[in-house]
Amino acid sequence: NEIKALQSDFLNWYDQNKRPLPWRENQEPYYVWLSEIMLQQTQVQTVMPYFERFIQALPTLADLAQVPDDTLMKLWEGLGYYSRARNLKRAAQQIMTDYHGTFPQTAAELEQIIGIGPYTAGAIASIAFGEAVPAVDGNAYRVFSRLFDDTTDISKSSARQHFANEIAPLVPKERPGDFNQAVMDLGSSICTTKDPACLLCPLQPYCQAYAQGKQLERPVKTKK
Ligand code: ADE
Repeated sequence: NEIKALQSDFLNWYDQNKRPLPWRENQEPYYVWLSEIMLQQTQVQTVMPYFERFIQALPTLADLAQVPDDTLMKLWEGLGYYSRARNLKRAAQQIMTDYHGTFPQTAAELEQIIGIGPYTAGAIASIAFGEAVPAVDGNAYRVFSRLFDDTTDISKSSARQHFANEIAPLVPKERPGDFNQAVMDLGSSICTTKDPACLLCPLQPYCQAYAQGKQLERPVKTKK
Protein backbone atom coordinates (compact mmCIF):
# COMPACT_ATOMS: atom_id res chain seq x y z
CA ASN A 1 0.00 0.00 0.00
CA GLU A 2 0.96 3.64 -0.33
CA ILE A 3 1.99 4.18 3.31
CA LYS A 4 4.40 1.24 3.14
CA ALA A 5 5.88 2.53 -0.11
CA LEU A 6 6.33 6.01 1.36
CA GLN A 7 8.00 4.61 4.50
CA SER A 8 10.39 2.45 2.55
CA ASP A 9 11.28 5.19 0.04
CA PHE A 10 11.85 7.62 2.88
CA LEU A 11 13.96 5.27 5.03
CA ASN A 12 16.04 4.26 2.00
CA TRP A 13 16.68 7.92 1.34
CA TYR A 14 17.67 8.39 4.98
CA ASP A 15 20.06 5.42 4.86
CA GLN A 16 21.83 6.99 1.91
CA ASN A 17 21.71 10.65 2.93
CA LYS A 18 21.62 10.95 6.71
CA ARG A 19 23.98 13.38 8.32
CA PRO A 20 26.68 11.68 10.38
CA LEU A 21 25.97 13.35 13.72
CA PRO A 22 27.65 12.44 17.00
CA TRP A 23 24.37 11.72 18.80
CA ARG A 24 23.45 9.23 16.09
CA GLU A 25 26.38 6.99 16.96
CA ASN A 26 24.54 5.38 19.85
CA GLN A 27 21.02 5.46 21.16
CA GLU A 28 21.72 5.86 24.84
CA PRO A 29 18.73 7.71 26.28
CA TYR A 30 21.01 10.13 28.14
CA TYR A 31 22.81 11.12 24.93
CA VAL A 32 19.63 11.33 22.89
CA TRP A 33 18.02 13.51 25.56
CA LEU A 34 21.04 15.79 25.91
CA SER A 35 21.28 16.29 22.13
CA GLU A 36 17.58 17.05 21.79
CA ILE A 37 17.72 19.66 24.57
CA MET A 38 20.78 21.30 22.98
CA LEU A 39 19.07 21.25 19.56
CA GLN A 40 15.88 22.90 20.83
CA GLN A 41 17.13 26.44 20.24
CA THR A 42 20.55 25.91 18.70
CA GLN A 43 21.68 24.83 15.23
CA VAL A 44 23.20 21.43 14.54
CA GLN A 45 26.62 22.81 13.55
CA THR A 46 26.89 24.78 16.78
CA VAL A 47 25.67 21.94 18.96
CA MET A 48 28.14 19.31 17.72
CA PRO A 49 31.30 20.39 19.61
CA TYR A 50 29.29 21.27 22.74
CA PHE A 51 27.69 17.86 22.73
CA GLU A 52 31.06 16.08 22.39
CA ARG A 53 32.61 18.13 25.18
CA PHE A 54 29.61 17.68 27.47
CA ILE A 55 29.54 13.89 27.26
CA GLN A 56 33.30 13.73 27.76
CA ALA A 57 32.98 15.80 30.94
CA LEU A 58 29.73 14.20 32.16
CA PRO A 59 29.46 10.74 30.58
CA THR A 60 26.51 9.54 32.66
CA LEU A 61 23.23 10.83 34.02
CA ALA A 62 24.61 10.37 37.56
CA ASP A 63 27.54 12.66 36.69
CA LEU A 64 25.14 15.35 35.46
CA ALA A 65 22.95 15.07 38.56
CA GLN A 66 25.99 15.87 40.74
CA VAL A 67 27.83 18.43 38.63
CA PRO A 68 28.72 21.71 40.35
CA ASP A 69 26.76 24.60 38.85
CA ASP A 70 29.87 26.51 37.77
CA THR A 71 31.16 23.47 35.85
CA LEU A 72 27.76 23.05 34.21
CA MET A 73 27.62 26.72 33.18
CA LYS A 74 31.13 26.52 31.71
CA LEU A 75 30.08 23.54 29.61
CA TRP A 76 27.03 25.44 28.38
CA GLU A 77 28.71 28.82 27.88
CA GLY A 78 27.96 30.10 24.36
CA LEU A 79 24.89 27.91 23.74
CA GLY A 80 22.48 30.42 25.27
CA TYR A 81 19.11 29.81 26.91
CA TYR A 82 20.84 28.82 30.15
CA SER A 83 17.59 27.64 31.74
CA ARG A 84 18.01 24.58 29.53
CA ALA A 85 21.21 23.69 31.38
CA ARG A 86 19.70 24.30 34.81
CA ASN A 87 16.68 22.20 33.84
CA LEU A 88 18.96 19.43 32.56
CA LYS A 89 20.58 19.10 35.94
CA ARG A 90 17.26 19.25 37.78
CA ALA A 91 15.84 16.62 35.42
CA ALA A 92 18.88 14.38 36.00
CA GLN A 93 18.26 14.65 39.74
CA GLN A 94 14.55 13.93 39.19
CA ILE A 95 15.36 10.76 37.21
CA MET A 96 17.94 9.62 39.78
CA THR A 97 15.54 10.17 42.66
CA ASP A 98 12.10 9.35 41.28
CA TYR A 99 13.02 6.78 38.59
CA HIS A 100 16.04 5.05 40.20
CA GLY A 101 18.30 6.51 37.52
CA THR A 102 16.45 4.85 34.63
CA PHE A 103 14.78 6.99 31.99
CA PRO A 104 11.06 6.46 31.56
CA GLN A 105 10.54 4.82 28.16
CA THR A 106 7.31 6.21 26.73
CA ALA A 107 6.55 9.67 25.36
CA ALA A 108 3.68 10.09 27.85
CA GLU A 109 5.98 9.39 30.82
CA LEU A 110 8.89 11.39 29.39
CA GLU A 111 6.65 14.48 29.34
CA GLN A 112 6.65 14.30 33.14
CA ILE A 113 10.37 15.09 33.23
CA ILE A 114 11.45 18.70 33.77
CA GLY A 115 12.24 20.44 30.48
CA ILE A 116 10.75 17.71 28.24
CA GLY A 117 7.78 18.89 26.16
CA PRO A 118 5.78 16.99 23.55
CA TYR A 119 8.36 17.32 20.77
CA THR A 120 11.31 16.22 22.89
CA ALA A 121 9.30 13.37 24.43
CA GLY A 122 8.45 12.08 20.95
CA ALA A 123 12.04 12.39 19.78
CA ILE A 124 13.49 10.51 22.78
CA ALA A 125 10.76 7.84 22.87
CA SER A 126 11.16 7.08 19.17
CA ILE A 127 14.97 7.33 18.87
CA ALA A 128 16.05 5.77 22.17
CA PHE A 129 13.14 3.41 22.88
CA GLY A 130 11.60 2.58 19.50
CA GLU A 131 8.13 3.88 20.35
CA ALA A 132 6.20 4.61 17.15
CA VAL A 133 5.26 8.21 17.90
CA PRO A 134 5.90 11.37 15.86
CA ALA A 135 8.24 14.19 16.94
CA VAL A 136 6.42 17.32 15.87
CA ASP A 137 8.62 20.40 15.45
CA GLY A 138 8.87 23.10 12.80
CA ASN A 139 10.43 20.67 10.33
CA ALA A 140 7.48 18.30 10.75
CA TYR A 141 5.00 21.15 10.23
CA ARG A 142 6.70 22.03 6.97
CA VAL A 143 7.17 18.50 5.64
CA PHE A 144 3.69 17.23 6.51
CA SER A 145 1.68 20.37 5.73
CA ARG A 146 3.17 19.96 2.24
CA LEU A 147 2.77 16.19 2.04
CA PHE A 148 -0.94 16.44 2.93
CA ASP A 149 -1.44 19.94 1.48
CA ASP A 150 -2.75 20.71 4.95
CA THR A 151 -3.85 24.32 5.48
CA THR A 152 -3.98 24.15 9.28
CA ASP A 153 -2.59 27.39 10.72
CA ILE A 154 0.59 26.45 12.59
CA SER A 155 0.30 29.61 14.72
CA LYS A 156 -2.62 27.95 16.51
CA SER A 157 -1.92 26.08 19.72
CA SER A 158 -4.05 23.18 18.46
CA ALA A 159 -1.77 22.67 15.43
CA ARG A 160 0.70 20.37 17.19
CA GLN A 161 -1.95 17.82 18.17
CA HIS A 162 -3.57 18.08 14.76
CA PHE A 163 -0.29 17.27 13.03
CA ALA A 164 0.62 14.59 15.56
CA ASN A 165 -2.66 12.81 14.77
CA GLU A 166 -2.08 13.15 11.05
CA ILE A 167 1.54 11.95 11.16
CA ALA A 168 1.05 9.06 13.63
CA PRO A 169 -0.20 6.52 11.06
CA LEU A 170 2.90 7.12 8.93
CA VAL A 171 5.48 6.42 11.65
CA PRO A 172 6.76 2.88 11.08
CA LYS A 173 6.77 0.45 14.02
CA GLU A 174 10.16 -0.92 12.97
CA ARG A 175 12.21 2.30 12.68
CA PRO A 176 10.30 5.19 14.28
CA GLY A 177 13.42 7.09 15.39
CA ASP A 178 14.98 6.90 11.94
CA PHE A 179 11.70 8.06 10.39
CA ASN A 180 11.57 11.10 12.69
CA GLN A 181 15.22 11.91 12.06
CA ALA A 182 14.61 11.55 8.32
CA VAL A 183 11.97 14.29 8.70
CA MET A 184 14.57 16.49 10.43
CA ASP A 185 17.15 15.90 7.68
CA LEU A 186 14.64 16.38 4.89
CA GLY A 187 13.44 19.62 6.50
CA SER A 188 16.94 20.99 6.83
CA SER A 189 18.28 20.03 3.39
CA ILE A 190 15.42 19.60 0.89
CA CYS A 191 12.02 20.56 2.27
CA THR A 192 13.22 24.03 3.21
CA THR A 193 11.04 27.08 3.78
CA LYS A 194 12.01 29.30 0.86
CA ASP A 195 13.57 27.15 -1.82
CA PRO A 196 12.53 23.51 -1.46
CA ALA A 197 14.40 21.09 -3.74
CA CYS A 198 11.31 19.13 -4.72
CA LEU A 199 13.04 17.44 -7.65
CA LEU A 200 15.42 15.76 -5.20
CA CYS A 201 12.77 14.87 -2.62
CA PRO A 202 12.07 11.22 -1.83
CA LEU A 203 8.50 12.21 -0.86
CA GLN A 204 7.77 14.17 -4.04
CA PRO A 205 5.72 11.33 -5.59
CA TYR A 206 3.48 11.45 -2.53
CA CYS A 207 3.42 15.22 -1.98
CA GLN A 208 -0.01 16.79 -2.42
CA ALA A 209 1.25 20.38 -2.18
CA TYR A 210 3.82 19.67 -4.92
CA ALA A 211 1.11 18.17 -7.11
CA GLN A 212 -0.84 21.44 -6.78
CA GLY A 213 2.22 23.71 -7.04
CA LYS A 214 1.42 24.93 -3.52
CA GLN A 215 4.63 23.98 -1.69
CA LEU A 216 5.66 27.61 -1.06
CA GLU A 217 2.26 28.33 0.47
CA ARG A 218 2.67 25.59 3.12
CA PRO A 219 2.67 25.63 6.02
CA VAL A 220 0.02 28.27 6.61
CA LYS A 221 1.15 30.61 9.36
CA THR A 222 -0.88 33.71 10.22
CA LYS A 223 1.19 35.07 13.11
CA LYS A 224 4.89 35.50 13.54
N1 ADE B 1 17.14 18.56 15.43
C1 ADE B 1 16.54 18.14 16.54
N2 ADE B 1 16.82 16.85 16.78
C2 ADE B 1 17.66 16.44 15.80
C3 ADE B 1 18.30 15.21 15.50
N3 ADE B 1 18.14 14.14 16.28
N4 ADE B 1 19.04 15.16 14.39
C4 ADE B 1 19.17 16.26 13.62
N5 ADE B 1 18.61 17.41 13.85
C5 ADE B 1 17.85 17.52 14.93
